[in-house]
Amino acid sequence: MRLAVISDTHGNATAFEAVVRDIKNQSPDAIVFLGDIVMRGPQPGECIKLVKSLQPLSVIRGNYDNRFTRFPKPGWTPSNYKQELVLRAFEYDCERISKEEQVWLANLPTELSCNFEEVPTEMYHASPNSLVDIVYPWATLDELDTLHKNEQTKLVLYGHVHHAHVRQGRGRLVVNCGSIGLPFDGDNRASYAIVDFNKKDIAVQLRRVSYDIEKAIIRAKECNMPDIDAFEYALRRARYPYDSVKRSHSAT
Ligand SMILES: [Fe+2]
Repeated sequence: MRLAVISDTHGNATAFEAVVRDIKNQSPDAIVFLGDIVMRGPQPGECIKLVKSLQPLSVIRGNYDNRFTRFPKPGWTPSNYKQELVLRAFEYDCERISKEEQVWLANLPTELSCNFEEVPTEMYHASPNSLVDIVYPWATLDELDTLHKNEQTKLVLYGHVHHAHVRQGRGRLVVNCGSIGLPFDGDNRASYAIVDFNKKDIAVQLRRVSYDIEKAIIRAKECNMPDIDAFEYALRRARYPYDSVKRSHSAT
């Protein structure tokens, strides 16, 4: 059985379209999406439509999808640069996705557990307890242990950190599929994972897919997306953009 594991498109439909083409060549039996379909990129509605067109086994809610459950709270105002960016991205997305799509995002499940062949598997956006916990590729074994609930679990799949990796934890494999729309691991190609199951055996491919980054930036400009400089920085360098862009702003 072959599973495609995809995550973190963040409104970058140009990258997502390239990954969809690559997935079709891989002919998976099932697809799971691990959250953060929208926000930070120019085409949130297109990304929602692409996700649905793939008919995934499950779509899990990410922390940015979760904004549509409760954000911004009455009386809330941004208190730092990152929060200002988030608010502008949220307002931009609210103008581009329907109320029905916002309700759909807000009601996505936050976890999925199932057996693939004979492999008990748990799937999350960030962790079993949170949509925002960060477990990096260089996590300790104790930190990797926070990513499962059931001791029988042999495979954990998660997204959120935008940094693809495979780790052997205590008694289970831990796989992060990376980000399609905004990788932060220094490789600016879109990232996802293919997992092959054969009874109890697991084989993982971390796939990287080149796409037209210039086209994605032009789309953002055509849409008058706010904070294009941060988006452009992230796409070109595949690095977390917000600190660097702010520094360059204050320097000029
Ligand atoms: Fe994300």
